[in-house]
Amino acid sequence: MTNTIAIGIQWGDEGKGKIVDLLAPDVDVVARFQGGPNAGHTLVLGDKKTVLNHIPSGILHEDTLCLIGNGTVVDPKRLVEEMDMLLAAGIPVPERLKIAERCQLILPYHRSLDAAREVAKGKGKIGTTGKGIGPCYEDKTARRGIRLVDLTSDDLDERIDANLEYVNFMLVEYLKAAPVSRAEVDEMLDLARERLLPLAADVPLILQRRIKAGDSILYEGAQGSMLDVDHGTYPFVTSSNTVAGAALAGLGVGPGQVDAVLGICKAYTTRVGAGPFPTELYNAEGMDCPSGKHMAEKGNEFGSTTGRPRRTGWFDGVVVQHAVRINGVTGLAITKMDVLDGLEEVKLCVAYELDGQRLESVPACCKQLAAVKPVYETLPGWSENTFGATSMDQLPANARALLKRIEEVCDCPVTMLSTGPDRKHIIHL
Ligand code: GDP
Ligand code: IMO
Ligand code: MG
Repeated sequence: MTNTIAIGIQWGDEGKGKIVDLLAPDVDVVARFQGGPNAGHTLVLGDKKTVLNHIPSGILHEDTLCLIGNGTVVDPKRLVEEMDMLLAAGIPVPERLKIAERCQLILPYHRSLDAAREVAKGKGKIGTTGKGIGPCYEDKTARRGIRLVDLTSDDLDERIDANLEYVNFMLVEYLKAAPVSRAEVDEMLDLARERLLPLAADVPLILQRRIKAGDSILYEGAQGSMLDVDHGTYPFVTSSNTVAGAALAGLGVGPGQVDAVLGICKAYTTRVGAGPFPTELYNAEGMDCPSGKHMAEKGNEFGSTTGRPRRTGWFDGVVVQHAVRINGVTGLAITKMDVLDGLEEVKLCVAYELDGQRLESVPACCKQLAAVKPVYETLPGWSENTFGATSMDQLPANARALLKRIEEVCDCPVTMLSTGPDRKHIIHL
């Protein structure tokens, strides 16, 4: 296998964990380049389910080195819990995992700020995962973030004091929330020193050596292109660049060191959290359509990290086309095809309509995107069971026709098709 970036190209939860886990035996290194514990990547092998937040989805494989890159934000407590969960299952995590010295640490005040800001926003809240992601990336850009390498720095105490003074002023005076104590922060820093610092490494150097030796790298994204801070449905996005380009900056590799971009998307669409969703059919706030409910129930659409119910809707070809462009996607991995089994008809959004005008691309303005009407093509559904199919000839003709139409609309070949949550439920095309 070549050096591939595998990313979500809708609003997250496309099945990245499953796809990366199944590709991992064919690569030497799996590396995460952005995001943090807002991600929840599910790996299923038989009756064993593993949900990962920070750790790359190659960790279950003996010969795969896993790297957490500088572009990520790491919650020491959560990462240690994740490591312990895997250790208890017999996975020798410290032998397989390295963490970039330059990655940013999520500290207790980031979570407090995230929560307090959401409360203050009231109805206009983003619906964040509450993991402190936004405030941590803000600190990074404001140049007051604390990185893994800073745990050994002699001015750390001073910097934490300065950060706490500022944050507690914001929390107490402006957001009317409880302050964060120095003791809470120290506890987190001690844990990071004890458990994470021993895994700190010069990740770009490791990658250069591996690439020179002819090893193959799988770059694993978190979230999805529509949650990208530049290209997504701003401001209803996460706080990092989630697009393929972020793999380079988030790990310290060059553009010549990537051969392919795998865009992972569901055969329908889901979103969790607030923000526009043109093809939405069903949600917990009262929107109730039988096809959307079918997707939510059959697809078991609840957040892997937060347990929140996901909003569901038809496949949005305008969104996926946009993602194919901004990421240079070379192949699509379509997941959850089996969830569409049993629907009488399936719809595919091929364009939007706004004020009587046909739009072929995603408008940059969030209010406009919220106002568009999807233009649908309707295809016949299928009653056959595709769950667990491993070859194209096991698929009904109508399912194959949908895939062909997705390829045409999105101008990109489908190279993988997932037909169930298990690592084995896959068709390589
Ligand atoms: P990620 O964040 O992109 O890794 O996706 P999540 O793990 O948050 O959500 C995807 C969910 O769908 C998980 O529960 C997976 O086990 C499940 N899943 C992945 N692929 C398939 C598939 O092809 N069919 C079905 N039925 N479930 C799938
Ligand atoms: P994976 O990697 C789905 C969403 C949140 C919210 C917005 C901002 O599992 O696909 P944040 O906590 O990042 O500040 O929240 O982004 N979000 C996700 N949605 N899957 C994810 O990750 C997500 N990570 C963040 O719901 O709308
Ligand atoms: Mg997820």
